[in-house]
Amino acid sequence: MAMLLRSLLPRVGILLPPVGCPRLIRCLSSAAVCPPARAAVYHQHGAPDHVLQLVEVEGRELLEGEVCVKMLAAPINPSDINRIEGVYPMRPPVPAVGGTEGVGVVVSVAPGVSKLKVNDWVIPSHPHIGTWRTYIAKEESAWCLVAKDVPEKYAATVSVNPCTALRMLQDIVDLKPGASVVQNGATSMVGQCVIQLARINDLHTINLIRDRPDLDSVKERLKALGADYVLTEEELGSLDKKTLAGQAQAKLGLNCVGGSAATAVMKLLGEGGVMVTYGGMAKKPITLSTGPLIFKDLRLQGFWLGKWKSNHSDEEFSTMVNYLLQLVCDGKLQYAMDEVQFSDFDTALQKALGRQGSALKQVLIFN
Ligand SMILES: NC(=O)c1ccc[n+]([C@@H]2O[C@H](COP(=O)([O-])OP(=O)(O)OC[C@H]3O[C@@H](n4cnc5c(N)ncnc54)[C@H](OP(=O)(O)O)[C@@H]3O)[C@@H](O)[C@H]2O)c1
Repeated sequence: MAMLLRSLLPRVGILLPPVGCPRLIRCLSSAAVCPPARAAVYHQHGAPDHVLQLVEVEGRELLEGEVCVKMLAAPINPSDINRIEGVYPMRPPVPAVGGTEGVGVVVSVAPGVSKLKVNDWVIPSHPHIGTWRTYIAKEESAWCLVAKDVPEKYAATVSVNPCTALRMLQDIVDLKPGASVVQNGATSMVGQCVIQLARINDLHTINLIRDRPDLDSVKERLKALGADYVLTEEELGSLDKKTLAGQAQAKLGLNCVGGSAATAVMKLLGEGGVMVTYGGMAKKPITLSTGPLIFKDLRLQGFWLGKWKSNHSDEEFSTMVNYLLQLVCDGKLQYAMDEVQFSDFDTALQKALGRQGSALKQVLIFN
């Protein structure tokens, strides 16, 4: 077993002690170490609830320039699922630890570390770090320092979805105060952030959601965040042409669903409007009517935060993250989350996979 783990674990960033050293901690005297960890590891791509295993991994001595981070909280995002399934274009080689986002506290630092210190809170500055584990040893440059004055669950979830919402509102169309944005998947974390960031900038939002038994309470929840309109595709379909024409003035459309939900976004775009596709939750292609493309001069484009990050510096990323966390502190940005102990990983995973119907964002808590 030890030999098997020895062949696998260095690739997931965890080293075993040298042969003949039965317990690493005993062999290390004063060197900085990262303690043994519990991790959600996958050795092959496939359905996450089939290929993920919770395993114990041994600690190791930190290498020069590394810090050991004790994870505090980490979400399960759709892209984490896609990476494990093997369908996400950028993914770590297997075996790998699941999870790309999260927040942790620095518990030890090796010589050569210059900026981070024990007790700092950090989030990964690059994906593929494997955040679904209790301790992580990585080089200092893999981490971005964040303020400690926000709830852990917000620090853990700020770097993907809120950033995506902000970038799509700021970078694609020049949205003047009073302009409208239409989006599908409005219950998603990105969607909730779009509603609030739009409101801060005096923009209106038209929000499309799936029908559900608790439709009225979900509509109320999104309206309380600042949504102007919340409607299902069916409700949109039953609007008469005059009402629809009055609504169809949006400059920007955001599509994270695909299929008929993307067509619905297109319907509400005004002259020269742009629909940005950033996700494909329904796993269905986008079908378009030719008329609106021609006569309304509509445009389609994609957005990927990974590309934004590769074209911008770590400092720009850090500034964006801290801006969003300040909005959280000021009570201007919030989103619904379900905190689940890491020991209940399987339950959180089932919910994140949608096996129990619509669910809030699952955030793993490590303590
Ligand atoms: N391109 C990028 O850089 C980027 C960055 C971040 C996120 N994303 C994408 O943005 C999307 C939202 O991410 P998130 O983390 O904010 O989501 P989330 O909070 O995990 O929520 C999932 C959303 O997907 C909807 N959904 C799930 N299955 C669906 C289906 N079969 N058909 C239609 N809708 C479905 C849910 O609607 P219900 O409430 O009705 O269940 C909910 O709105 C994902 O596609 C994600 O990959 C892309």
